[in-house]
Amino acid sequence: MIILGIESSCDDTSVALLDVSKDKHTILAQKTASQIEVHKTYGGVVPEIAGRKHAEAIIPIVEDVLHNQPKPEYIAVTSGPGLITGLLVGVEVAKTLSYLWDIPLLSINHIEGHVYSPFLEENHTDLVFPALCLIASGGHTEYILMKDHGDYTKLGGTRDDAVGECFDKVAKLLHLDYPGGPKIAALAEHGNSSAIPFPRPMIRSKDYDMSFSGLKTAALYWLRDNTFEDANITLEDFCASFQQAIIAVLLKKTENILSEHTIKTLLLGGGVSANTQLQTQLSHMLEKRDQPIQFRFPKKTYCMDNAAMIALAGYHHAAHNDTTPWNEIVANPNWRIAQI
Ligand code: KG4
Ligand code: ZN
Repeated sequence: MIILGIESSCDDTSVALLDVSKDKHTILAQKTASQIEVHKTYGGVVPEIAGRKHAEAIIPIVEDVLHNQPKPEYIAVTSGPGLITGLLVGVEVAKTLSYLWDIPLLSINHIEGHVYSPFLEENHTDLVFPALCLIASGGHTEYILMKDHGDYTKLGGTRDDAVGECFDKVAKLLHLDYPGGPKIAALAEHGNSSAIPFPRPMIRSKDYDMSFSGLKTAALYWLRDNTFEDANITLEDFCASFQQAIIAVLLKKTENILSEHTIKTLLLGGGVSANTQLQTQLSHMLEKRDQPIQFRFPKKTYCMDNAAMIALAGYHHAAHNDTTPWNEIVANPNWRIAQI
């Protein structure tokens, strides 16, 4: 089954062509245009600019990806959640191609794309259920229980800032370029993670919800009230301590869920899944448990938004004939994969 994937929900315009069968898949082509350089100036994604950049980039990328390739049999497009300005561009292109080529359209939730991202490099049938998906990105931080393909239950999530957003905002306070997550992570490698006792919000709450805006404020107040020199603390120490506060919360909440549910796979996805400390500490925690749980996270290139993950998620919808007529698909910036 040849599937054309389209992703434009944030600041990456991505198109991919996948050849998927029941037990394997091949990425025939993929091209992504990142808008990071444009948004860097503003310290974050500017929705109006993002929409315009997606509109400029998308048609040449579709042409490039399809060059000398077989004709797609399905189109999988991200129709939510995300920035409406970006979603509209991808959805309109997908609708038009579906009508012109007379092929079915698959409406894909962006979070579901991240759920499948660890399997882009592996056999997608390796996903053993029930799986606990921790999706942490610039816009989302959620725990989702996945009992089967398409069977999602949200167990908890952030009540305010997403983890990636918290990384990016604190990086901005430190005058680091957008996106700040990778910059903080790189500096943290050379710092002492117990140098500053940053709060671990909601770590003791019995639910699986999280909150990161207080941590961001604690970072702001520390920078307002101290200088690195006087406190005898380096930028690297600050970054390591801040990052560890986030990881400690994610570790504890993950452990709580694993103790209270039967889980066979822990799946990490979203931009923050590129954080090697988070990967390592989750992996160590799993090794210490009596019951074996397989741990899956994406290869670095697939941690960020990409269209291949949307096409792979699309395959499972196509397999269940879950298509959407071109004149009925709607971009929904607030689409929730599963309600609590
Ligand atoms: O999934 P993604 O590409 O876009 C959204 O759907 O939001 O995630 C981007 C987010 C940004 O906030 C970025 O700072 C964060 O992922 N990120 C990281 C790392 N690499 C990317 N955060 C922490 N550590 C990293 N190594
Ligand atoms: Zn994403």
